[in-house]
Amino acid sequence: MKVIFFSAKSYDREFFEAENRAYGFDLSFIDTDLSLETVLLAKEADAVCAFVNDTLDAQILGSLAESGVRSIALRCAGFNNVDLAAAKRLGIRVGRVPAYSPYAVAEHAVALILALNRKVHRAYNRVRESNFSLEGLMGFDLHGTTVGVIGTGKIGQIFVGIMKGFGCEVLAYDPYPSEKAASLGAKYVSLEELYQRSSIVSLHCPLSPESHHMIDEAAIEKMQDGVMLINTSRGALVDTAALIQGLKLRKIGHVGLDVYEEEADLFFEDLSTQVMQDDIFARLTTFPNVIVTGHQAFLTSNALRNIAQTTLGNLKAFADGAECPNELSV
Ligand code: NAI
Repeated sequence: MKVIFFSAKSYDREFFEAENRAYGFDLSFIDTDLSLETVLLAKEADAVCAFVNDTLDAQILGSLAESGVRSIALRCAGFNNVDLAAAKRLGIRVGRVPAYSPYAVAEHAVALILALNRKVHRAYNRVRESNFSLEGLMGFDLHGTTVGVIGTGKIGQIFVGIMKGFGCEVLAYDPYPSEKAASLGAKYVSLEELYQRSSIVSLHCPLSPESHHMIDEAAIEKMQDGVMLINTSRGALVDTAALIQGLKLRKIGHVGLDVYEEEADLFFEDLSTQVMQDDIFARLTTFPNVIVTGHQAFLTSNALRNIAQTTLGNLKAFADGAECPNELSV
């Protein structure tokens, strides 16, 4: 089976080629994303492997079907970029990787908290310039701090366990509370109480019409002065304009983001020689108390190995005409 990978990076190639020794598929990797302009590159392929910012709308799926593509393997969990109804109509099977390493994402959220609190990003730059002044570098003990966790699914539960390990009091909000999170020591409260009592708020819930911009001006207003906000879930959970206002008013003390609502035009590419066109993002990066990483929370060797194994397993099931537990249906 010939599989073409769109938006492929060096780490995709490394892990997929290693895992493919067990499958023997014919893999080819291109770094451009899948769009109307690039869809013809798949004309020799039986299957397409795509990532979060590849477009799989009805028109592109139609073109893929005409070229003989019969399956799509998403090497990610989210599938909001795929027109599943069109895929079904065209007889294209679609699979995804529902979970690859919740530890990777939970641990990255903790990395952001520690770096922001102890100003590691600022200290790193200072020491490189032989500036050993400690002015402005004061943090606080995590031990005894109250942390609010919004969303206690796979990632949120691991985050709860880590923060309990630091000796934090952990408050949680989830419309479907988890026994596991409670047994790890999270105390379920209303969203209102979580905002009022937490010094750190970390988002671990999916983006949906209900959760879109859940962190807006009104939510920020309810939070503690100097709150630290961490978002490793999806950018549009946060109204970035309201976030910037909260930072300017010093209502928000620290922000750690691995996701950004307009990230599709920025993340995963080296734009260092270009002029930044997104003024809101540009403003965000001027704050000394904000750290933004470019959607890298998933990026551990463990997660990449799991992604490659599951994706190739999905493709094997599709090639064999077998059932696939990770297949998406409308
Ligand atoms: P999950 O599906 O296991 O858990 C999500 C939890 O959020 C569920 O318990 C659900 O009941 C809860 N929830 C749903 N709507 C909510 C709301 N409005 N308020 C509070 N809780 C709500 O998902 P998992 O695997 O823990 O992933 C969480 C999020 O992490 C994903 O949705 C994804 O956006 C993000 N993610 C980010 C990655 C990164 O590299 N930055 C990588 C993987 C996932």
